Amino acid sequence: MGLALAACVKAYNCIFTTSDKQSKEKIDILRALGAEVIVCPTNVPADDPRSYYSVAEKLSSETPNSVWCNQYDNLSNREAHYYSTGPEIWEQTEGKITHLIVGVGTGGTISGTGKYLKEQNPNIKIWGIDTYGSALKKYHETGEFDEEEIYPYITEGIGEDIIPANIDFDIIDHFEKVSDKDGAVMTRRLAREEGLLLGYSAGSAMAGLLQLKDRLDDNSMAVLIFHDSGTRYINKVYNDEWMKQNRFI
Ligand SMILES: Cc1ncc(COP(=O)(O)O)c(C=O)c1O
Repeated sequence: MGLALAACVKAYNCIFTTSDKQSKEKIDILRALGAEVIVCPTNVPADDPRSYYSVAEKLSSETPNSVWCNQYDNLSNREAHYYSTGPEIWEQTEGKITHLIVGVGTGGTISGTGKYLKEQNPNIKIWGIDTYGSALKKYHETGEFDEEEIYPYITEGIGEDIIPANIDFDIIDHFEKVSDKDGAVMTRRLAREEGLLLGYSAGSAMAGLLQLKDRLDDNSMAVLIFHDSGTRYINKVYNDEWMKQNRFI
């Protein structure tokens, strides 16, 4: 979304590749801003020529005078969080934060924010939220990229079938996996019980924190990052039929 807005202001042509599991609203909003969106199949390996990673790379090599932003491996991603999100959280908690909980996709948010916060106070714990079907947690714990860990899942925005350069595994203390169902159910609870209409990965982050609650005590100040608003998920987690189709309710 940020890139699409910047492209409008700078009069650049912007082309996005995405996977067909992403909500329709996300694609519609990008197109509304004049961007071109190419929708690629989700259930193919990352190195398959049809994957959204491969299509983006090929487009950039074939398009003269183009830049491939590549959110996965372009370290400007995590740097932006080092200079913005990290200081914002440190200042707003007056340095009292003890735990940061973040859903991990490209790893830009957790790595940049976490690095800044650990530089201020090395005792702050940085916990990443992962999905079942993603290779990240096992890679963090064993150093092994295990393809057996990878299978299609429904949660949007977190978990990976690649190891993005933006993930700084050294600053992450723990990865917690959250199921598609637990994330979806918690997303709805946050709306109805807290009045927070948030995206699917926000529910996963909160569900993950509750799975880890015994590691917190009265002196803890845990900060969760909620990555998205709920309007793009109205026809998914907020829709009873969709929830029933996926056997989540
Ligand atoms: C909805 C949502 N949640 C979480 C994330 C994960 O953030 P990051 O890519 O910085 O790890 C993303 C990333 O785009 C996202 O779109």
